[in-house]
Amino acid sequence: MESKYARLDRFISMRTDIKRRDVRRVLAQGRIRVDGIPACSINQRIGEFSHVAIDEQVLQAKLARYFMMNKPCCVVSATKDERHKTVLDLLGAADRAGLHIAGRLDFNSTGLLLLTNDGRWSRQLSTPEANICKSYRVTLEKPICEDYVDAFAQGMFFPFEGITTKPAKLSIISDYVAEVSLVEGRYHQIKRMFGRFRNRVLELHRFAIGGLVLDPSLALGQSRELTEWEASNIREKIQW
Ligand code: URA
Repeated sequence: MESKYARLDRFISMRTDIKRRDVRRVLAQGRIRVDGIPACSINQRIGEFSHVAIDEQVLQAKLARYFMMNKPCCVVSATKDERHKTVLDLLGAADRAGLHIAGRLDFNSTGLLLLTNDGRWSRQLSTPEANICKSYRVTLEKPICEDYVDAFAQGMFFPFEGITTKPAKLSIISDYVAEVSLVEGRYHQIKRMFGRFRNRVLELHRFAIGGLVLDPSLALGQSRELTEWEASNIREKIQW
């Protein structure tokens, strides 16, 4: 199937010998089931992960898969890399097939990374309109002061992109440690924001995306599948 969605009559005619104009008749006989339920309209939309069967013949049964990983340092957030290990290399061969990354982390950043084979889900997470909050714990080279809080909240002008960053929340945890929550993901954004204070980021660890918090039982490099509830509720916002 070229497009991610097809009308039921088109889908059936592409996958079987049944002509498009005959699908309505087969439908009336109650022989077509979508996700286990007899279909009743030729206009029904069939998605990439819809389970479609006609009589006992399964025409499509692809499962959507969602993983969280605790990304270690010195691993690339990419599916292929000539020089370095990638996050996909950390998954078993059976798990990694068809997965892509939903929201990268830098080479030396650690923490919550999402992987999926569901392009629609990852696009919904990364679209700027979704305003999904990502939270990081940051360790710095020099002490942090209250001035940072205002500067992050006001946003910073990035001349290269010609944009001002959206308001970000910075909480001071200790002299050298802060927690930062952002709703966007510009290139090296957190490092560049602390760079305005000439303060180098030593460690950057993402611990939450939307309502999803990194599972503390996952050691660096480990991953697990998201539960159905986690995958569908990730867009819930964490309260600022
Ligand atoms: N900001 C950064 O600078 N690096 C990351 O990996 C994530 C956010």
